[in-house]
Amino acid sequence: MDSFCWLSAWFWGSPTSTDKEETFDPKIHLHYSPPEKKITMQDLLLDQTTDTSSVAGTTAFPLLSREGVRAYRRALFQQNVLDQCASSPFPGTLVLRGAHKQSKFIKNFWTHPETMRIVSEAMGVPLDVIMPTEIGHTNIQVEGATISEMTKKLKVEPAVEKVELSPEERAYDPLKDASAIIPWHYDSYPYVCVLMLSETEGMIGGETYIKKGDGTAQKVEGPRIGHAVMLQGSKVQHLAARARGVKERISTITSYRSSVPTVYDSSYMTNIRPYANLNILYPEWTQYRLRKLRDEITHYLETVEKEPELALDRVVLEKLLTEQTEYLRRTSRQMITPEEHQRMLVAYGSAAYYDAPRIWKIVQSLPEFEKLASGADSDRVWMPQSVYWTDLQSSIEAIRLEKSLTSTMGNLIWDKKRQYYMGDELLRQGLNEVFLDWLGASGLWDIYCKLS
Ligand SMILES: [Fe+2]
Repeated sequence: MDSFCWLSAWFWGSPTSTDKEETFDPKIHLHYSPPEKKITMQDLLLDQTTDTSSVAGTTAFPLLSREGVRAYRRALFQQNVLDQCASSPFPGTLVLRGAHKQSKFIKNFWTHPETMRIVSEAMGVPLDVIMPTEIGHTNIQVEGATISEMTKKLKVEPAVEKVELSPEERAYDPLKDASAIIPWHYDSYPYVCVLMLSETEGMIGGETYIKKGDGTAQKVEGPRIGHAVMLQGSKVQHLAARARGVKERISTITSYRSSVPTVYDSSYMTNIRPYANLNILYPEWTQYRLRKLRDEITHYLETVEKEPELALDRVVLEKLLTEQTEYLRRTSRQMITPEEHQRMLVAYGSAAYYDAPRIWKIVQSLPEFEKLASGADSDRVWMPQSVYWTDLQSSIEAIRLEKSLTSTMGNLIWDKKRQYYMGDELLRQGLNEVFLDWLGASGLWDIYCKLS
């Protein structure tokens, strides 16, 4: 809101009591005690690579005081925040993005050295916020069909009303009932902190399940009001059970990467592209990626400036160059042009976008699969000039050399039971909309649509 709006709002007396936010003060607004348990990668029987934290996630821990929760809600529900940041993917759900630009409280809370220390301590590695646009992504479940209907229901004081649930709703099992979950997935960013801003008494669901190395699921209880949980969401496959039984549920989420040079950053923008404003996301993404690249090069340069003979170690130098080349390539590939992204999303739908890995599994069981997939790749009628063909060749070469490939679904070790197709390559890179476009060109999409 510019100064004129502030003045006119003051003059006409339109701001409600929720319109003035507080100044973030860790002594008043934080109420932290460390998580009782940190779940390690080893506990989950998962491999830990040297470039990640040994902590897979934490149990819920107190982070905001009673005053902190109210101050955060007051900051969120300011008219300018709602006006600038709210969108509604479907009735009953509001998403607020970019609130840190409108609210100093939200920005200062998430970026305060004390908060940064807490989240870093919880995950056992020094963390940086991934990029400003990912500060305090907020999901709100509240009654209402339109944005204004929903925002009218939001009050600084957390709602305590409950919703009557049927016995079936109470008894639902998120591991069996697909409608009640956000399905198994990896996050786009390495680490995440989820903070609860609503009362959860009477709430059913809201917990996270983590898939262990032996295929079983471990339950992590959802956080209570003012509490947070942290997860290494890019390395552990997880499922979120939807919450029921409460009138409002507000959770706010910030994503991180490690701030230490030489610790690999496995970020993608796959989960974010369909709903983010790409004109805001891409410039921030470019800056953070180039900064990370600069840090890596500076770190190496400082090392060899101190000990010049270390530059003779070709293995270390090669590793740096290979990793950073790959890092730059991903930086570029993730930025599908807004026009192309929109065209593909309209053609195939955002449900198919998020469902792309499952669709790929289904089409692989079709009798026409091998013929159509290999035909599409050998004829190259789909995007013949694109860089994806070079990427496909590099991956095929890496597979021949029995190297593992990084992937949005964890490390990929190809079993060579069938040919590696462009569909595999695009999903590996988390380019789901481009994958659907290739699937369409191959003829497999049409057959898939007739199945359902
Ligand atoms: Fe997630």
